[in-house]
Amino acid sequence: MLNFNRSNDRVLVLSLIAFSFLFPFAMKAQSSALIRYLPERKLWVVESDRTTYVVGVNEQGQLQNIYWGKKLGRDEDLQAAHTRPEHASFDSSETMSSLEYPGWGGRLYTEPCLKVTLADGDRDLVLKYDSYEIQGDTLKLRTRDIQYDLIVTLIYKVFPHEDIIRKSSQVENRTAQAVTLESAQSGVWYVAPGDGYRLTYLTGRWAGENQISQVAIHPGKVVLESRRGNTSHQLNPWFALDEGGKADETHGRVWFGGVAWSGNWKLVVEQTPAQQVRVVGGYNDFDFAYPLKPGESLDTPGYYGGFTGAGFGEASRLMHHLVTDELLPDHSTPHPRPVLYNSWEATTFDVNESGQEMLADKAAKLGVELFVMDDGWFGKRNDDHAGLGDWFVNPQKFPRGLKGLIDHVNGLGMKFGLWFEPEMINPDSDLYRMHPDWAMNFPGRPRELGRNQLVLNMARDDVKDYIFGVLDKMLNENHIEFIKWDMNRHFGEPGWAEVPPAEQKEIWVKYTKNVYEIIDRLRARHPHLEIESCSGGGGRMDLGILTRVDEVWTSDNTDAFDRLRIQEGLSLAYPPQVMMDWVTDVPNINGRTTPLKFRFLVAMQGAFGIGSNLNRWTDQDFDLARQMIAYYKSIRETVQLGNLYRLLSPREGEVTANEYVSRDAKHAVVFAFLHSQQFLYPPPTVYLRGLDPAAVYQVKRIDGKLTDPQETLSGAYLMNHGLNFILEGDFDSTSVALERVK
Ligand code: GLA
Repeated sequence: MLNFNRSNDRVLVLSLIAFSFLFPFAMKAQSSALIRYLPERKLWVVESDRTTYVVGVNEQGQLQNIYWGKKLGRDEDLQAAHTRPEHASFDSSETMSSLEYPGWGGRLYTEPCLKVTLADGDRDLVLKYDSYEIQGDTLKLRTRDIQYDLIVTLIYKVFPHEDIIRKSSQVENRTAQAVTLESAQSGVWYVAPGDGYRLTYLTGRWAGENQISQVAIHPGKVVLESRRGNTSHQLNPWFALDEGGKADETHGRVWFGGVAWSGNWKLVVEQTPAQQVRVVGGYNDFDFAYPLKPGESLDTPGYYGGFTGAGFGEASRLMHHLVTDELLPDHSTPHPRPVLYNSWEATTFDVNESGQEMLADKAAKLGVELFVMDDGWFGKRNDDHAGLGDWFVNPQKFPRGLKGLIDHVNGLGMKFGLWFEPEMINPDSDLYRMHPDWAMNFPGRPRELGRNQLVLNMARDDVKDYIFGVLDKMLNENHIEFIKWDMNRHFGEPGWAEVPPAEQKEIWVKYTKNVYEIIDRLRARHPHLEIESCSGGGGRMDLGILTRVDEVWTSDNTDAFDRLRIQEGLSLAYPPQVMMDWVTDVPNINGRTTPLKFRFLVAMQGAFGIGSNLNRWTDQDFDLARQMIAYYKSIRETVQLGNLYRLLSPREGEVTANEYVSRDAKHAVVFAFLHSQQFLYPPPTVYLRGLDPAAVYQVKRIDGKLTDPQETLSGAYLMNHGLNFILEGDFDSTSVALERVK
């Protein structure tokens, strides 16, 4: 660990020499390190396998971004940081320069990373470099206000194989007075200065998550945010900027990233008068005030950023690897998700022991590995008007408790999972009758219901401890190995009357921190527990929750055709492994009917589950399902943990095709879907990617829908000649698996 004052570069060099005598091996490690300090130019170079990120101290003593992009390699090429001069008297030097973490003060007119008000009324904040520390993959740059003991430490962790860096900041109040933070961002990413960038982002709504939106970036700001208390279906905290708006799946410079926060978040994409293009991200500063007493500090969420020169496909794969290899709870030993059955669409609230057992018997015969009972098992929960908050087994539905059902499910060789909605409360519940004040509210004002429910004020520690207690008790008393954690409305009237008015807006941050804490404590107490994040479908999908849960319910929209687009959008940012996809009955959400095979193949492109009412299935349905699930099990490792190549987009034509290739390129699987055929045109050629051209692959068909009859094909053939499928009519589909034989 190194820690030196900026004025002490000479000391740094001397100490490094002494250090190298004492610890020659440590020095060696340092020279090939991911993070280097170049003292004569006051630069820090952060390197990943294919990228370089450089930050320096300018002549004003401020941290300034120098470079972020493809790997440079030669330190001699790098210049020290220099502020850019003001542009007339109107655009100050700080507005013109790419400051790494600007406080709002002086003459800063661009989006700040930190804005404060001190108790004495001072609102001017100018952060200057103080010292640094490098520890392996982590760099800490400490800054301090020019007058006050307000310390802001910028923390960078590099993920070398994913070409991604995580930024965050820690704001410490070491003054003798209270300080209120009015904006606390995790950091800002700068792409190369210029014009003509394009922003890609994910938008949507309930049952229509993750639609891909693209806008040209012009001078001004584009704000993506959530003001809803959780991540939201409406906008996802992920962005990509591509140079000139020219990138596609395989080509082009793409800078991308995301905020790891499941509460109110904000991303501000700004093109400044200096033609800097920057993306500030962190806590949403809307309705935000976070007081720090002397000695207190606030940590901002992780803000990830990555770069690739190889288009959106590679950007996605890097994000996927980040999640599977670095973030998910099982990242040190990644393993594919089990095949799941969920009772919701079959039974809705009408659950009981014999009905669930009947479904479990049928699910087990199909090869299901995890049986999940959804809503309706607790309190007086017969519809969505009552029961939330009363996390006790309903004695009419389960007179013997859950033990009988769980034993039955386990006896069939399946794990048992259970649905909870811990953050919610129905006014018609014993919990509400006991603690009406636990619901978020402004005293004396209306409490507006959403799905007949209110939001518990999880920012309160007594509420947090209570919810942890009931969940922990359920897990202690029952052999529950999986939780579906739902959240079916957003905040409203976010009052917190129990704390002084100056602290009430902390509710936005504390709520999410407490939800995270409950999950973390549950996982620590129940190490084998697995969790699915759900918020009326995919309303809570972000890099913060993905360090705590194993998968996410993608959408309440399980219509297979709609799902092609929802899943494509999700895959821009998040890996197939966390994307829960079910086969359900038709017509589903929108009256459309698609063949069962089409539904299976769509759902097999992520973590697979079944949500159908198996009591209504025919023998033919069961036969097809057994075959499909056996096929899925043979390819799921490739699908969930391999590399995804989006070959044909559902947004661009009548055929969707996706390919998954194992990391060692020995296995691959292709899915192809015809949405609707017109004029008897055959589907376009599908060119595969990511294979070894010299390798020979055995071709495994699930049907006769491939024109090429060969038993084996080379990687070169598959990628250059491509495959031609026979897909006809509406909603036809097929899949081909490839296994390297030479
Ligand atoms: C939400 C979820 C569904 C289901 C219901 C239960 O809508 O997204 O999957 O769990 O709640 O009420």
